[in-house]
Amino acid sequence: MDRRTFLKDSAVTVVGTALLVDCAQKTPDTAASAPAKAADPNQPPIDRPADWDPVAFNTARGKSGFIPEKYMADILGPGGTEKHLGKHLPFVPKLDPSRAVAGTVAIMFGDTSKGYSAHPNAAKTAEKPDGHWYNWIRVAIAGRPESEVETLFDNWPMASDKVNGKYTGFSDPDPSKEDGKNTVYLAQLPPGAKAGDTLRIWGHCLTHGEYVDFLTI
Ligand SMILES: [Fe+2]
Repeated sequence: MDRRTFLKDSAVTVVGTALLVDCAQKTPDTAASAPAKAADPNQPPIDRPADWDPVAFNTARGKSGFIPEKYMADILGPGGTEKHLGKHLPFVPKLDPSRAVAGTVAIMFGDTSKGYSAHPNAAKTAEKPDGHWYNWIRVAIAGRPESEVETLFDNWPMASDKVNGKYTGFSDPDPSKEDGKNTVYLAQLPPGAKAGDTLRIWGHCLTHGEYVDFLTI
């Protein structure tokens, strides 16, 4: 074999090997994430984008129907980011350890340390038959869609045994204190989640729609 033929054959072998490795790595991933979710432009990203901006993302997603139109007007009005959109973004409070529950992550909405209003919660009344609270929170380890766990919440301020979510309080054990702003949601952690992981938190407020953010625990 002359040098030229040898080099040509070697190049084909290298390219062929690279293709095989590529296929071997990609096939299982494609199969695992088979649901067409990725094709949905409204599906939140599973990994935190480098330029992640929760206000911009949730405002845009809200406009496409995931936040009621009437509330979008408040979000887009004066102070709307702080008083309305930021009020619905999750954060992990430093919860009194005696109120923490193993296997769950404590979540509140509206981080006042960022200048946002705290999210109030309200029970069902004749005037407001749905009540006002987050009725589901989905938590996934960033980058791992299969890890997502959904926690359901009902009957605020005392969840029933029909759901896997529970409430506690932040400054006082009673979640209903301070117009419900004292509420802490105890959402199920995805199996294997550990300190230092970034989680995608995706929640639905009965009154004000869906909100998504990434938090590192
Ligand atoms: Fe709300």
